[in-house]
Amino acid sequence: MKKEDRSSSTSPQPTPESGDSKNENQQVKPLRRRSFLKRISAASAATMGAGLLANSSSVFAQEGPEEHSGRLTRGDAALLRFAAAAEIIETDFWVQYNELGGIPDAEVPGGSGNAPYTAALAVLDEDMAQYIHDNTDDEFTHQNFLNAYLASKRADTLSLEQFRTLPGSSATGSSGKLRLTNLTQLTLDTSWWTRYRSSTKNPDLGDTFPQAIPTLAVGQHTAIPRTDDDLADPNFLQAIANTATFHFPTIEQGGNSLYPSMAQRATHVEVLRILISIGPTETMHFQTWSDKAGNAPALTAVDPVTGVSVTFPDLNSPPFGGEDFQTNLIMPEPCPFLSRKLPVVSIIRPTATKGIAMGVVKFLTDMGLFRGQSPQFFAFMRDLAEDADEARRGIR
Ligand SMILES: [Fe+2]
Repeated sequence: MKKEDRSSSTSPQPTPESGDSKNENQQVKPLRRRSFLKRISAASAATMGAGLLANSSSVFAQEGPEEHSGRLTRGDAALLRFAAAAEIIETDFWVQYNELGGIPDAEVPGGSGNAPYTAALAVLDEDMAQYIHDNTDDEFTHQNFLNAYLASKRADTLSLEQFRTLPGSSATGSSGKLRLTNLTQLTLDTSWWTRYRSSTKNPDLGDTFPQAIPTLAVGQHTAIPRTDDDLADPNFLQAIANTATFHFPTIEQGGNSLYPSMAQRATHVEVLRILISIGPTETMHFQTWSDKAGNAPALTAVDPVTGVSVTFPDLNSPPFGGEDFQTNLIMPEPCPFLSRKLPVVSIIRPTATKGIAMGVVKFLTDMGLFRGQSPQFFAFMRDLAEDADEARRGIR
């Protein structure tokens, strides 16, 4: 895809509230569902040049099964809008990784690279920078496509630009632009590692799984150099690169479950097609990153700023090792599915559909990805998730 094709919705988009504190207050309390969305989407559609929401001031007065009398049910539109939000969030943090450890270029612009961080990532695989670039590129296209598709069906599009308030890294190579997400205070649940290696357990059947990297599941860890001071100690810098490399699959396995879970409640076949066509690319990302994470060199490091310690163990040696930890076992182990009475099968898990969107918001929040975000941001994300979780499959 050419750069200019996507620039319209990746550059900052004005909102009707810009520079108007009175309106900003109005949008905060109370955060009324749909009316808030309506104002944002009107701005988004305008910047996309779609011009399809010209009557948006009255659209929510219309009742009926289809959003704005367009061609999507309200449920389908809500599913796609939540997916768009997830993709915008993914794009935001992948851009941060690409600026410092990927390949900034015309395809994925922003930043100029940080050589020591890029080198630390390359310890895991010499192609890391290329993979980071390509994953970032994919997320850009996901968010752009979903919003363009919504607009083409006269449904509300989505922008999170008014929440772009977090400072991000000031290390060499960072563009310094404001961010939606925070990569410097992460708490990572790495139980996906053992979940996909278990042949007897499935989270949809109520099972739980041990962490691959227990110290990442507690405390707060940075996955990017916060300043150039973080480049001084090679051991700590490698810990930062290792943390990033475990963050990648931790995120992508979430998308890996989100899409099939939401797809079960799509009504139109074309919306189903979108969800089941984007979802597997998240799976391809997850598979790649889970392989790279297995290359993380064993080490222990202490964050010189926070005093928090992290240990990356040798996952192939006791007390780790065996089928639940061995690093080259990256294919999903067959596991129980739907019922333990049925034979095991190699599948994505979890894929239960109930409450999936709210579950994803909680997952990302617990990860610390939104540390520093405003109460309005969390209310907005909950609102989007609630609408998506209310979607019910119909027959069309
Ligand atoms: Fe994506």
